[in-house]
Amino acid sequence: MSEMKFPDGFLWGGAVAAHQLEGGWQDGGKGVSVADVMTVGSNTTPREITDGVIPGKNYPNHEAIDFYHHYKEDVKLFAEMGFKCFRTSIAWTRIFPQGDEQEPNEEGLKFYDDLFDECHKYGIEPVITLAHFEMPYHLVEEYGGFANRKVIDFFVKFATTCFKRYKNKVKYWMTFNEIDNQSSFNNEFMMTTNSGLIFSKDTNNEAAMYQAAHYELVASALAIKEARKINPDFEIGCMINYTPVYPKTSAPKDILLAQRVDQRRNWFSDVHVFGEYPKETEAYIERNGYRSDITEEDKVILSEGVVDYVGFSYYQSMTVSADKIDADHLVDPSDVIAKNDYLEVSDWGWPIDPIGLRYSLNLLTDRYHLPLFIVENGLGAFDKVESNGEIHDDYRIDYLRAHLEEVKKAVVLDHVDLMGYTPWGCIDLVSAGTGQMDKRYGFIYVDKNDEGVGTMERSRKDSFYWYKKVIESNGADLT
Ligand code: BG6
Repeated sequence: MSEMKFPDGFLWGGAVAAHQLEGGWQDGGKGVSVADVMTVGSNTTPREITDGVIPGKNYPNHEAIDFYHHYKEDVKLFAEMGFKCFRTSIAWTRIFPQGDEQEPNEEGLKFYDDLFDECHKYGIEPVITLAHFEMPYHLVEEYGGFANRKVIDFFVKFATTCFKRYKNKVKYWMTFNEIDNQSSFNNEFMMTTNSGLIFSKDTNNEAAMYQAAHYELVASALAIKEARKINPDFEIGCMINYTPVYPKTSAPKDILLAQRVDQRRNWFSDVHVFGEYPKETEAYIERNGYRSDITEEDKVILSEGVVDYVGFSYYQSMTVSADKIDADHLVDPSDVIAKNDYLEVSDWGWPIDPIGLRYSLNLLTDRYHLPLFIVENGLGAFDKVESNGEIHDDYRIDYLRAHLEEVKKAVVLDHVDLMGYTPWGCIDLVSAGTGQMDKRYGFIYVDKNDEGVGTMERSRKDSFYWYKKVIESNGADLT
């Protein structure tokens, strides 16, 4: 394997999201986003979603790692590692602070002009997600987020504004980050970050999710249709959290359940790619009387606004057991998760499964016949700074190496068409799930802790030098 390389032009890089690193939550006319009303949590305490910003609470995204003011220094470090691309998102609230304005905010637009210029200075291609967990909070309060059809127009306006402004600076786009996460519809965090839904005790979460997700998919398709007119050379993908589903045993009832969980989670990308709902999903929606608002025009839009590639994050696989709930009684996929005795877990309990990534690459290729892009992968871990300032994160290197070995087999041996690889949180940032700083993914350490204390100084971890070598050798040298 060591002499095998990745194809020429392979997009090596790293991934982040605006709200998790930019900070500057009120700078340059930025409005309040849903990420700005989420407090810090922990491994055991969920983040609180507050009713607006409440003084005295700890909102980690407000300052994050202050990339807003440090981006030149950070992009320079990415360039030192040899990045060919950099995946980030555009904060919707920098462009439309409330979400429903007529005109965009010039200062917000200018920030991303400067950031993209800085990337291009080093030959780094921006890879841009439009909505990465941060809808304007005003759209949640006033309109109920994507529970409301009107929000489609606000998203399309935001997307079109970005496509026009950056048409010569950005080629690779994705519409919604991990749109399929909301299949865990009883998880309020997932629903608020994806669709801007805030639940009350009377809400039927599952019904709300199917309707909101439909509006998002229409919004995505409409945006893609507009994008094609603005620049036919754009490459526009969807972005899903791909988690392969394994049966706990080879008992047929476990196998059928695993298939059903896969169907509940992975229909979103089917709509993005094929422009229509898959049969089983449609049957389930009809049987339950969900998604009452779908028009003939929506169906045409979905069929016309399909994607060019499938971007996905991969962190773990999921194992399910039909011991308590079988395929015909499945409601929320989270209810049937079982322990996989063959896999170790991270400090945050996420199963570590490199072979699952090769399996996923093959499965998605067979299913979609489209290029794939691994736009997130990585290990959230505690790091220790030695007295001399060094950070020996060999556990992170081991994790990434094991995954890249499997990726390489998928590309070189199985001929999966893979555009690139952007490990998550290439610089330490605020965790989306817990709001922590100490759940670190980066090659670059940022001196700041969960309480928000630190100098913000950046330093190179051992993994920084390892990844630099990987990129330099185009993946031939993973040692
Ligand atoms: C993905 C998201 O779900 O996983 C990122 O796209 C997120 O925004 C990443 O940060 C890792 O999750 P967490 O909860 O460890 O930050």
